[in-house]
Amino acid sequence: MPIRLDERLYAIASLVKGGSVADIGCDHGKLAYYLVATDRASKVIATDISERSLQKARDLVLENGAEELVDIRLGDGLSPIESGEVDVVVIAGLGGDVISDIISRAHAEGKRFASYILSPNTHPEKVRRALMSVGQKINFDSAVECAGKLYALIASSEGEQSLSELEIEFGAFLKSDADFAVRAEKELKYIEGLRASGVVSDKLAKRAEMLKTALKECKSER
Ligand SMILES: C[S@@+](CC[C@H](N)C(=O)[O-])C[C@H]1O[C@@H](n2cnc3c(N)ncnc32)[C@H](O)[C@@H]1O
Repeated sequence: MPIRLDERLYAIASLVKGGSVADIGCDHGKLAYYLVATDRASKVIATDISERSLQKARDLVLENGAEELVDIRLGDGLSPIESGEVDVVVIAGLGGDVISDIISRAHAEGKRFASYILSPNTHPEKVRRALMSVGQKINFDSAVECAGKLYALIASSEGEQSLSELEIEFGAFLKSDADFAVRAEKELKYIEGLRASGVVSDKLAKRAEMLKTALKECKSER
């Protein structure tokens, strides 16, 4: 029986267009099970570094009789997956620093994957940089709102790409992403509110400057 996913996981699932998938850091296993239950994926290898997390995925898969289609494996990052073993690697719900480290480590070990779907909780810029450095080209770069929080959603496939610093920071399709200006104005307002209430931070000031420059570039393109 298909399960309901929240907006974030549903948006991730919608980017899967068939084939085999590795869901790294699967935790509850909802995405892995949903993908096979709805025929979005032919099979899923669901992994996690924590046996306790993995048990939740195992229970969900067993309860629904999907054990033939979801292979559950314990391990750190992409270590339980062979090079090229799946068509798509999904990593969601982890920090951008962890995700970028997982991608870079696998590449340094000689592993190659055709495509990635990534949704970092933080630091999407680190994820974009890591993808570029392992020869992946971003072909989807947006954000999804779930329970009042925005999550980056990035998909890539093999290819070369050179992004500007602003595109790395705010998104590969910064200039054509109609929602970017709305998100940027909102963040700018938030930062200005903090600064007005006396919060002093070089990091915030730098972020505000970058947002303003990106907004200017966006507007000049339209
Ligand atoms: C917040 S959950 C995200 C679950 C699911 N992917 C989602 O997006 O809803 C993060 C999961 O990643 C796992 N994890 C953290 N670091 C990991 C790593 N290096 N390799 C594999 N799994 C990891 C954690 O054990 C946890 O189950």
